[in-house]
Amino acid sequence: MCGIIGLTGHNPSQNILLDGLARLEYRGYDSAGIAFFRDNSGHISVRKTAGKVSDLRAICDDDNTSTCGIGHSRWATHGGVTNANAHPHKVGNVTLVHNGIIENYHDLIKEFNLQDKLVSETDTEVAAATFDANYDGDPIECIKKTVSKIHGTFAFCIMFKNRPGEIYCTRRVSPLVAAFTEKDGSFVASDLTAFIEYSKQFFIVPEDTIMIMKADSMTVQDMDGKEVTPEYMTVDWDVTAAQKDGYPHYMIKEIHEQPAAIKRTIMTRIKDDLPDFTEDNIPDSLFEGVTDMTIIACGTAMYAGNMGASLIQNKFGIPVNVCIASEFRYERPVLSENSLVIVVSQSGETIDTLEALRLAKTKTQRTLSLVNVKGSSIARESNYVLYTHAGPEIAVASTKAYTVQVVAMYLIAAKLGLTSGEFTEAECKKFIQTMQTVPEAMQKMLDNEQDIENLTRRMTNAEHTFYIGRGQDYRLAMEGALKLKEISYIHAEAYAAGELKHGTIALISEGIPVIALATQQSVYSKVISNIREVKARGAYVILISMDDEITDPSICDVHLNIPKIDDDFAVFEAVVLCQMIAYYASIGKGCNPDQPRNLAKSVTVE
Ligand code: AGP
Repeated sequence: MCGIIGLTGHNPSQNILLDGLARLEYRGYDSAGIAFFRDNSGHISVRKTAGKVSDLRAICDDDNTSTCGIGHSRWATHGGVTNANAHPHKVGNVTLVHNGIIENYHDLIKEFNLQDKLVSETDTEVAAATFDANYDGDPIECIKKTVSKIHGTFAFCIMFKNRPGEIYCTRRVSPLVAAFTEKDGSFVASDLTAFIEYSKQFFIVPEDTIMIMKADSMTVQDMDGKEVTPEYMTVDWDVTAAQKDGYPHYMIKEIHEQPAAIKRTIMTRIKDDLPDFTEDNIPDSLFEGVTDMTIIACGTAMYAGNMGASLIQNKFGIPVNVCIASEFRYERPVLSENSLVIVVSQSGETIDTLEALRLAKTKTQRTLSLVNVKGSSIARESNYVLYTHAGPEIAVASTKAYTVQVVAMYLIAAKLGLTSGEFTEAECKKFIQTMQTVPEAMQKMLDNEQDIENLTRRMTNAEHTFYIGRGQDYRLAMEGALKLKEISYIHAEAYAAGELKHGTIALISEGIPVIALATQQSVYSKVISNIREVKARGAYVILISMDDEITDPSICDVHLNIPKIDDDFAVFEAVVLCQMIAYYASIGKGCNPDQPRNLAKSVTVE
């Protein structure tokens, strides 16, 4: 899931590349590099290093006036984190950066006898050597020949020696967006955040085409040489949306952006207090006659889908199957033309989710994706798309994307309820009216950001923690546990509160932190009983509930109150506490919550 960028124009490119890479670092941050035409001689220079973009910046020349270059921030797939394995890779006449996986790189080494040309452990260098082996002075023919030999996924930005000022790009599955402006020239990157200050208009580089970038032109052609007209799109956010704006980390900024993100996501989908997807070109017929649903996603996106599934199944009696995308892909899809398939993905590029969508479409055309990135692969390949409007989410740990996904699921649930007759119009209006109070309810949680930092101090030394709850609280527990794990590296397990005593309670030992979620009034007393069971065995219980206060010390050690709200919507208040607990535990342990180890924002490799 690397980040790549390319630029050829009239301005010195080095700092634009480095600043763009810094914004792409969430896609991969174990090493970084740039390559550029030093001058019009056609000679290409490379600067690259293991470490962060800041480490790369330190080895770049201040006097570099080059106006054409490419850059890369890496998430290692083949080979360790070393200077040699960092991109760009330069072999003979070819220098390139790559995002994706070359599956047949061993075969290419044999076919083109490349072994003696390689100095790294990466599949990317093999690709560069293959391009070089096929290069006889014509970049277009070289690219055609080479990509026809490659099995796997790729987004390449390629520079050829003696072709100063030119960058060639081609992609298969891995994302690339591009823009051309008369003033600043040609830009390409893994996502728009890298060059948003130069253009709010952009296009998705079509797959299996060749894009030729020059300072004064940008053209796209298919593999037969036929010109392809790019389809430009426009975003409504600006560069500040992709900056920290004074917050210490993107994650805490994005936690605080949630009320506004939810408002933007629901406001155009509510007419007279009823769900309305007209502006999204989603017909009501999509929700009519639905016999069953399947929700497919990964990680946090799956937990958001799960939250919606629980609501739909319990309120409207529609059977909903929630599937991990990487599992769904290799199982028999039990779907019919009346199955509604919802695919959830913030990036819209998660390869497992994309391939699962493709499999589902072999069985039903009722596929609806919830996606945050405009024009992304999943958005373009699903029959319908309901965009969430969280704005760019830079922190690897998903926060505002989760809550807008849940609220989008709730909009869909309301539409399904109304369409199926399970929701009267009055009931639906009441549900939607409560939904519209969520931004304010979340804001109150954020304004009263309880002293979570002190609370989590006790957790930072924990090796293991549990998140327990029933119903919606159990589904939120899954998200809360993942947040803590992925940014503080404390092992956390989500457990159905009623299930603990069937074995796992054996793990409850003196002082182990247990985050107990008891917001669901319908099962409140049952959860309190379960909490007493763990408290009696020495757990350190942090209770999240709507109680005004808890006086019985046999229930919890710390009580975090959330304002009273309908059970269905308690998740929006309680999740803020779960996010803050994870965030403060992470910084309490000296971790970087924005760029946790081993992770990257968008998993575009399998
Ligand atoms: C969540 O905090 C993680 N970043 C991860 O689980 C993420 O939700 C998952 O990889 C799915 O990504 P997507 O929404 O872009 O498809």
